[in-house]
Amino acid sequence: MILSIESSCDDSSIAITDRLTKKLIFHKKISQEADHAYYGGVVPELASRLHAIALPDILEELREYLPTLKAVAVTNQPGLGVTLLEGIAMAKTLAMLLKIPLIEVNHLKGHIYSLFIEKSSIMPLLVLLISGGHTQMINVSSLDTMQLLATSMDDSVGESFDKVAKMMGLGYPGGSIIEALAHGGDEGRFDFPVPLRHSPLLAFSLSGLKNAVRLEIERLGGEANLTPQDKSDISASFQKAIRLHLIQKSKKIFQSQPTRDFALVGGASANLSIRQAYEKLCREFGKTLHVVPLEYCSDNAAMIGRYALECYERKRFIDPDKIDIGVTKKLQNGDFL
Ligand code: KG4
Ligand code: ZN
Repeated sequence: MILSIESSCDDSSIAITDRLTKKLIFHKKISQEADHAYYGGVVPELASRLHAIALPDILEELREYLPTLKAVAVTNQPGLGVTLLEGIAMAKTLAMLLKIPLIEVNHLKGHIYSLFIEKSSIMPLLVLLISGGHTQMINVSSLDTMQLLATSMDDSVGESFDKVAKMMGLGYPGGSIIEALAHGGDEGRFDFPVPLRHSPLLAFSLSGLKNAVRLEIERLGGEANLTPQDKSDISASFQKAIRLHLIQKSKKIFQSQPTRDFALVGGASANLSIRQAYEKLCREFGKTLHVVPLEYCSDNAAMIGRYALECYERKRFIDPDKIDIGVTKKLQNGDFL
């Protein structure tokens, strides 16, 4: 059994995965969304204190498995420094006390391996990671060869959903709220600009679109004057612009990438209108679309455990005295994760 811990942002999660069958034996996640909703976004210090309470609570529930553990894995980057440290401290302590190896896991690779929870992996694979922290198209050739093909120049997809929701006073996190409102909205009412529409750049950008939404809300008299229909129409029109942007850039990438398998991962990949747009695009290009079960799209320890299985097989361990928050450098197209 491998115990895995995730605390890179506002979800405290621990999983136990069976090494031989890849089955999840235990998985629990305590989300802090309600605690951060008041502030309209994640407050790192508050998140860190909540992890310090939630992680030991979850550990208490799985006490019976401790003697069966063969290794402990933890997300060490990228994420919020103060929250990563909570998971790292617990993982390091367990590894030392139980005298078992420690495995460090890159959160983005964890998201990619969320596709393979309780399953065998499929590679090569083209992956679009859309989360609260990242928007990246990645060419995944193997466990060690994951090359960035395009990234966001500014905000990420999830972040832009969160910020637009905040502008309309809708609460946090905004993605699922905006998606629900968009169902009753007219996506043709506001003609928000599709980012980088006329640019040949293989990149994503969402801050201009966010600004266009802000100006429209001001034109309508500010948040306080928005009717429920205005909010639905803004949500639908904004979601449409994001979808068109993702599809337009993905199409360009698909033209030069013959890889047959394509996958959507990350919190924002739970969005059904984005999923449907990719179903159509993949049909057009003869690609097979893979998506993550909804429960594993957002941050969780099951995906960290799944990646850790691969590290365990290859004996990729880290000395508990040496583990630290990883230094996350800004990646350019062509760089490896
Ligand atoms: O992967 P995740 O849990 O955290 C990061 O690694 O960043 O992603 C969280 C993000 C949030 O920004 C949230 O608003 C977004 O995923 N999200 C969605 C939806 N559900 C969650 N965005 C769009 N549509 C959704 N249905
Ligand atoms: Zn994540």
